[in-house]
Amino acid sequence: MVNGSQQGLDLCARLLLDPGDRAAMEDPGYLLARQAFLATGAEVLPVPVDAEGPRTDALPEARLAYTTPSHQFPLGGVLAAGRRRELLAWAARHAAFVIEDDYDSEYRFDIAPIPPLQAMDGEGRVIYLGTASKTLSPTLRLGFLVVPAALAEAFAKAKRLSDRHSPSLEQEALAALIETGAYERHVRRVRRRNAERRAALLAALTEAEAGAVEVVGSDAGLHVVAWLNGVPRAREDDFVAAAA
Ligand SMILES: Cc1ncc(COP(=O)(O)O)c(C=O)c1O
Repeated sequence: MVNGSQQGLDLCARLLLDPGDRAAMEDPGYLLARQAFLATGAEVLPVPVDAEGPRTDALPEARLAYTTPSHQFPLGGVLAAGRRRELLAWAARHAAFVIEDDYDSEYRFDIAPIPPLQAMDGEGRVIYLGTASKTLSPTLRLGFLVVPAALAEAFAKAKRLSDRHSPSLEQEALAALIETGAYERHVRRVRRRNAERRAALLAALTEAEAGAVEVVGSDAGLHVVAWLNGVPRAREDDFVAAAA
């Protein structure tokens, strides 16, 4: 258990990267991951992203790759099956690690659930990162790392050096929610409510603004990207007000 995804990213960065190492990262991507990698003195190399997630054919040689395969942040693509295999083959070839940041996979709408990338990993190359920030609250600061067995002891020691452990009271409360089934019921309820909000948003953007707005990445997660291609800049505030 870690203090939100952010501590997980920080531990990965400090344990896996030395100054001058290379880290591959989705571009555009999650800035707080990029900054954690840069803070170690590593070089961060961009991997271009399209509608199917990061272009795994463009992965540079690197010590680790950071990715959001369930719902690319921010563009929203879901990493295609062939690319998942390509990414794992890349990691095996370079003895590199893949950080799978699964920050909002509880919210999946018109598509079937996809198993985590880590479930396909037979080589101990994928570090899975989850969080309660999108299901309960980002103020809780509860996240978790599932690391390959070979790394477990080093991560446990580094976590202990960093802050001994994450707060017990919050962890026990979360454990009770999970054990009683209340967490699962809560997530189902929130997913239904978010599905309604999402439908209203998509209807407003695509029907009311047909042709002027292009929406991408709406299959999963808590956000969509709307390209306001045909919208005059002066109307942008109207969109913000209407969304609220
Ligand atoms: C890509 C990504 N990862 C992780 C998180 C969650 O971070 P944390 O668990 O530190 O609150 C977010 C939150 O917005 C995010 O966008």
